[in-house]
Amino acid sequence: MVEFKKAKLKDISLMQEMIKPEIESGVILPRSNDEIATSIRSYILAYEKDELIGYGALKIYSQKLAEIRSLVIKREFRAKGVGSALVKELLKEAKEYEIEAVFALTYRDKFFINLGFEVVDKDELPSQKIWADCIKCKNFPVCNEIAVIYKF
Ligand SMILES: CC(C)(COP(=O)(O)OP(=O)(O)OC[C@H]1O[C@@H](n2cnc3c(N)ncnc32)[C@H](O)[C@@H]1OP(=O)(O)O)[C@@H](O)C(=O)NCCC(=O)NCCS
Repeated sequence: MVEFKKAKLKDISLMQEMIKPEIESGVILPRSNDEIATSIRSYILAYEKDELIGYGALKIYSQKLAEIRSLVIKREFRAKGVGSALVKELLKEAKEYEIEAVFALTYRDKFFINLGFEVVDKDELPSQKIWADCIKCKNFPVCNEIAVIYKF
């Protein structure tokens, strides 16, 4: 059975280890240990028994908007519904904060659409996102990621 827990600072090294292959393939942006530490409260971790099998973060920009980012499930645990359940946990948290909408930038648009997200124009995203994050990406400014948004 999969359990969801808030991240602790001691989880950072395992989180970094797990995301390495996705960073290498350019699917997820790298974050330093300090960057993760300062936003540790935004992360939800998925455990099966005592094993960390995935995680994702909810970054809040404003009352109107938050972002799901750094979403990853360990390869051998994929296609079992864990990623979907994790997105639902992150949406539940957004709802508790009464945030109006949650976006993600992704190559997995179908996965998000199945969860009730819709595709939007990237111009609708907050400019802090583009300047703080996208500029660090090796694909910037020619980005093929698709912006998806969930509206409550
Ligand atoms: C995207 C990601 C988080 C999805 O995690 P996951 O645990 O595989 O997600 P789910 O199992 O809930 O859904 C994945 C697919 O399996 C299907 N699925 C879910 N449960 C299933 C089951 N029991 N049997 C077979 N298929 C199943 C889903 O329908 C879904 O199909 P879709 O992708 O065509 O929509 C994972 O693939 C990942 O870590 N990818 C690399 C990082 C990444 O791309 N992150 C997203 C950036 S925003």
